[in-house]
Amino acid sequence: MTGILLADAHSAKKFAANRALEHIDDGMRIGLGSGSTALIFVRELADAVVRNEWNVTCVSTSSSTSRVAIELGLGLSPLNEVLHLDIAIDGADEIDPGLNLVKGGGGALLQEKIVAAASETMIVIADSSKLVESLGSFPLPVEVTRFGWKSTMSRLRDFFGTSDVDGSECKLRGGEGDPYLTDEGNFIVDASLGRIGNPEAIAAEINCIPGVVENGLFANIASSAIVGWPNGDVEVLSEGKCNPIMNSAAIEVGSQSAGGVHV
Ligand code: 5RP
Repeated sequence: MTGILLADAHSAKKFAANRALEHIDDGMRIGLGSGSTALIFVRELADAVVRNEWNVTCVSTSSSTSRVAIELGLGLSPLNEVLHLDIAIDGADEIDPGLNLVKGGGGALLQEKIVAAASETMIVIADSSKLVESLGSFPLPVEVTRFGWKSTMSRLRDFFGTSDVDGSECKLRGGEGDPYLTDEGNFIVDASLGRIGNPEAIAAEINCIPGVVENGLFANIASSAIVGWPNGDVEVLSEGKCNPIMNSAAIEVGSQSAGGVHV
């Protein structure tokens, strides 16, 4: 990871957030991510909404983003009312060349993944320090239930010990004396893996461990990444990928209707 000064990183985030606005239009249903880069986007969006007199629907991924969005006058809707979003714009802790991500440094990975899954397109915005050759230098956040968290953490450690990663040390975020609580009231275990060999498989396997609620590996979810550099350059990384979570959800809904399932 390239080390960049804080002020430079802020400018780079701003360049990326600003470019993301080009994907927004009147009437869109937008998922608002969490973290410092996502909050820069939220501010830019609020300005653009006023400037262009847009009418947009926003769904937030965390209580901290909700607070800022409301302060800025952006109306928020619960995901349960909107169901499907056109786009989610969110930050990341790491981005690999295949657009796989590590997220959850800010603790909002669960709602971020749910919102990304409900979105037709997920665009990641980040400063250039987030680009990595392979994921894993940033500890992987795993959201776990409070009940039996020590047992879950021990199973996670065992799992990582036999996986295609370079480490297996797991720590409760905040420590036992003052554990970090997510918006959903769960704990977060941060796993120092060094290198994550097969993000898609590992993401799926982590979620099979009872007690795990969700993990911060976003594999094959992002459609593109907008990366800002301190000198003002903006790079758009895209593999033309669709969002497989969104597509499989759409297929499921379609087949249920076809089969006459009534809710
Ligand atoms: C929060 C996240 C953030 O998107 C991630 O931590 C990046 O944050 P920042 O933009 O502040 O670097 O996943 O859960």
